[in-house]
Amino acid sequence: MQYNRDLAFEYNSPTKIIFGENSVKEIGLEVDSLGGSKALVVTDRGIIEAGLAEKVEKALGRRYAGTYDQCIPDSGFHLVDEGATFAHEKGADILVSVGGGSVIDTAKGMAVVMKEGGKLSDYRGVQVLSRPQTPHVVVPTTAGSGSEVTWFAVIKDWERNIKEAFVDVHIIPDKAILDPTMVADLPPHLTAGPGMDSLSHAVEAIHSLQRQPIIDGLALQAVRLVMENLPRCVEKGDDLVSRGQQQLAATMAGIAFGNSQPGLVHAMAHPVGALFKVPHGVANAILLPHVMLFNMPECADRYKLLARAMGLDVRLLSNEEAGRAAVEAIRNLAAKIGLPQKLREVDVPEEGLVEAADYSMADGSIVYNPRLVSDKEEVLEVYRAAW
Ligand SMILES: [Fe+2]
Repeated sequence: MQYNRDLAFEYNSPTKIIFGENSVKEIGLEVDSLGGSKALVVTDRGIIEAGLAEKVEKALGRRYAGTYDQCIPDSGFHLVDEGATFAHEKGADILVSVGGGSVIDTAKGMAVVMKEGGKLSDYRGVQVLSRPQTPHVVVPTTAGSGSEVTWFAVIKDWERNIKEAFVDVHIIPDKAILDPTMVADLPPHLTAGPGMDSLSHAVEAIHSLQRQPIIDGLALQAVRLVMENLPRCVEKGDDLVSRGQQQLAATMAGIAFGNSQPGLVHAMAHPVGALFKVPHGVANAILLPHVMLFNMPECADRYKLLARAMGLDVRLLSNEEAGRAAVEAIRNLAAKIGLPQKLREVDVPEEGLVEAADYSMADGSIVYNPRLVSDKEEVLEVYRAAW
């Protein structure tokens, strides 16, 4: 794992983080300090039914301009454009997203269309924006995606049935309010999947080709926090201490993989989500151990660090033995929190793996994977092992 003299990196984490029970009540002041006067809440129907959007709307007080509530899992180009038009009609000058990764990513896209005009599809690609976008405050209602601090927005093109990544420093949210009371009522399945997504982000940051020491610190602490708190969050959701620690783990892992980039786990999870509607965190949970085994020849030393962060006693083990112990611990965690272990259990058809492998080879994340993937057959082999 040693770094050499050729180590060179950038670290960027501009999002202000506000943490604490009932911290959402302070959102008005945070909006004011960004110069916002008419805040549009971006959310989905489930969040409204859970009463969470209302908490934010009330806290916004006189700044509240309306709510766009049409977000869906995996979002969509058409929804981003529709939401931006709605925001324009309401005269909104700042966005407050209240939801999970899909809601946050929808708002990131809306922030661009509101500022630049046109349609989201005009801004495809990596780093195409040249100036700050519409201010955006995030109130996450899941603990997993890390989208509150990243420069990615994953939006589904429903016509082509693929997920597209928008990558730009100007879509990183300005502020994230992490309030444990906003995640306390999440049911187990909406706790477990996103929780494993956050663990995947931390592991991908640790094994990424763009790994670096600042990120190692964040990612290894995120791993510790997930291992210690995620099972408790699933078993006893109203434990606000565990909920808060898991929220922090997700955000730290978000900063980590936002800087060092995701790898093969995400390159393989994206197609499984787009083609077969497997929730992102569940896809990651299934694929993560298999990708680690694939990567083991290149980064067993990194996985030994991981094992130590998990609290495993690996002092007398070789790097590879320790790495395999880390893989086993991840499998055990996923089983303990009730997640499936195989792609076949989540209705991925075996004959669909070839198409998934095709998309995976074209996913931007694959280039950061520590083991070079040069042939589709290699991806297919990992998919088959996970099937
Ligand atoms: Fe993810």
